[in-house]
Amino acid sequence: QGRARVRRRTGHIEPAHRLAADERITVRVAGIGPPLPDNIVTNHDHERTLDTTDEWIRDRAGIAERRTGGVTSELAARAGKAALADAGMAPDDIDLLILATCTPDQRFPATSATVQADLGLTCGALDVNAVCAGFTYAYITAYLMMTAPTGPERVLVCGTDTLTSITDWTDRNTAILFGDGSGAVVLERHEQGRLLGWDAGADGNLKPILFCDHDGFIQMEGREVFKKAVRAVVGSVEAALAQAGLTPADIDVLLPHQANIRIIEAVCQRLDVSMEITHNVLEHTGNTSSASIPLTMAAAADNGVLHPGSIVCMTGFGAGMAWASAVVEW
Ligand code: UT7
Repeated sequence: QGRARVRRRTGHIEPAHRLAADERITVRVAGIGPPLPDNIVTNHDHERTLDTTDEWIRDRAGIAERRTGGVTSELAARAGKAALADAGMAPDDIDLLILATCTPDQRFPATSATVQADLGLTCGALDVNAVCAGFTYAYITAYLMMTAPTGPERVLVCGTDTLTSITDWTDRNTAILFGDGSGAVVLERHEQGRLLGWDAGADGNLKPILFCDHDGFIQMEGREVFKKAVRAVVGSVEAALAQAGLTPADIDVLLPHQANIRIIEAVCQRLDVSMEITHNVLEHTGNTSSASIPLTMAAAADNGVLHPGSIVCMTGFGAGMAWASAVVEW
């Protein structure tokens, strides 16, 4: 009973397995922390060193500036501290830390262990690397652990990356896209808030179109990634919505990974939803990988659109290719 039946195509798990979790246990986002590094690199700064223009970057990617600086553990701890303050919680209240990152401080220990110490947490800590899909993977992992009867009651989920540390600043194909960033949420068991459906998948055959070797820089076939990303995101959102018994028209707030405004526009067009339900942080952050969805969630919270009962859909994609979507009743 409760044996997993994983669907080959999407990787998501059939309802039979979901019954293994206690469906009476529900989880809400109790706090969000969005601090960014202080240093700003504008498109005009890039114009001085690269064969590019502000106009090209805005038109082709929708980015005006990005933040740079800091190491992953430091940025994650800053976001975690802000999320704890927003939730009105102390370090001792947290039962587990999950850090989504593809830019760890060291090979080991896990960067989450450093963050755990920096924040004064006393709980366990683990890293998740699903690159730009990392935060959504981490959110789903946290939620499903929390709904187990013996699971943690409060989990700090951080999404933090310092992509500029692995970007070749002389390569105009990648340098103009990426920034550093960090966002965190505190999840707590609560009668308000529920994960209605999710989808997570990967296609490792696509590794050559986006990768970074140890001690190397990000290598990307941008046009290919763009096409695959649109297809993966649309399929993933549809799979998560189907599991929830919903359609795109039911989404109140869409929190897509922020890589390129044209990807977000293409996704909205194919799902037949308005761009009005998305929130744009990309223009001022660039692509911050694992940080982009919690940063977009913080923007949505600031814009006052996250209400109890709102249907919120987060969806991430990136190298792997890996993708993940979560449909949440706020
Ligand atoms: O988180 C997931 C990670 N990555 C992504 O999601 C990235 C997905 N891909 C993209 O966002 C887009 O493909 C890019 C923004 C990277 C590129 O936009 P594009 O519209 O796909 O451009 P392209 O690669 O097809 O290049 C068009 C032209 C080329 O010149 P020619 O061959 O037409 O003469 C490029 O050499 O634009 C040129 N180009 C640039 N020109 C000015 C490429 N980069 C630049 C640049 N400035 N920075």
